[in-house]
Amino acid sequence: MTEQADARPERRNFYGRVHGKTLRASQKVYLAEDLGKVRLEGVSRADNPERRVLDLNAVAGGRPLWLEVGFGGGEHLVHMAACYPDVVIIGCEPFVNGVAMLLGKIRQAGVENLWLHPGDVRDLFDVLPAAAIDKAFLNYPDPWPKARHHRRRFVTPGYLDELARVMRPGAEFRVATDIPDYVRQTLEEVPPAGFELLAEGGQPWDDWLSTRYEQKALREGRVPHYLTFRRAGARPGA
Ligand SMILES: C[S@@+](CC[C@H](N)C(=O)[O-])C[C@H]1O[C@@H](n2cnc3c(N)ncnc32)[C@H](O)[C@@H]1O
Repeated sequence: MTEQADARPERRNFYGRVHGKTLRASQKVYLAEDLGKVRLEGVSRADNPERRVLDLNAVAGGRPLWLEVGFGGGEHLVHMAACYPDVVIIGCEPFVNGVAMLLGKIRQAGVENLWLHPGDVRDLFDVLPAAAIDKAFLNYPDPWPKARHHRRRFVTPGYLDELARVMRPGAEFRVATDIPDYVRQTLEEVPPAGFELLAEGGQPWDDWLSTRYEQKALREGRVPHYLTFRRAGARPGA
């Protein structure tokens, strides 16, 4: 860690679930034995109360750095880590059951090119230098269907301005959702935060792996929608 980051002392509101049903014995073992090996140090407030900026060289060793926000059970995160061994991916997820599921998948797949922050992605935003992230994934973000809760969605300035700051100009930002009103808000709010829309529609990316939430959406008759943005500020293809 080097320079001083934003040291705002306030605690943020987090409205999602942190604990779910009781963990299986094997999941407790994964948390006890494996979390310490993949947990990215210097991200949580407890670890880094001064909010010092992370040393990217220590995190990625010069390799491209990707981010998955809210990885759920971790299937997409592990799939991407396995498909792209020359990339380092950070996954953020506050839901401890999801973290335990991911750790089990990491054991099975044997991937080593990922870090995990078992908490709010905004903790990571605090301590990343500008333009650190080369690709970001937001798969099936919490929908917050009631109109009075739309401001809790990820696709609002409080999250997007920070995401834009940490993304390299030209970097890709992918969003998958099954909620038409989430598509609407994504199209309205992501471009003004500093992104250009590259593509949207019902066709997933070539390297997509369908997630638990997508499978649930399909079972319940909802239709996936995929949106691809590019962080503005660089030539296409740069
Ligand atoms: C609807 S689930 C989707 C999970 C997974 N991406 C999938 O497609 O199966 C949304 C996830 O985002 C996580 N989440 C919500 N707010 C978050 C935040 N501020 N930082 C990181 N993850 C967050 C939730 O805990 C939840 O697991």
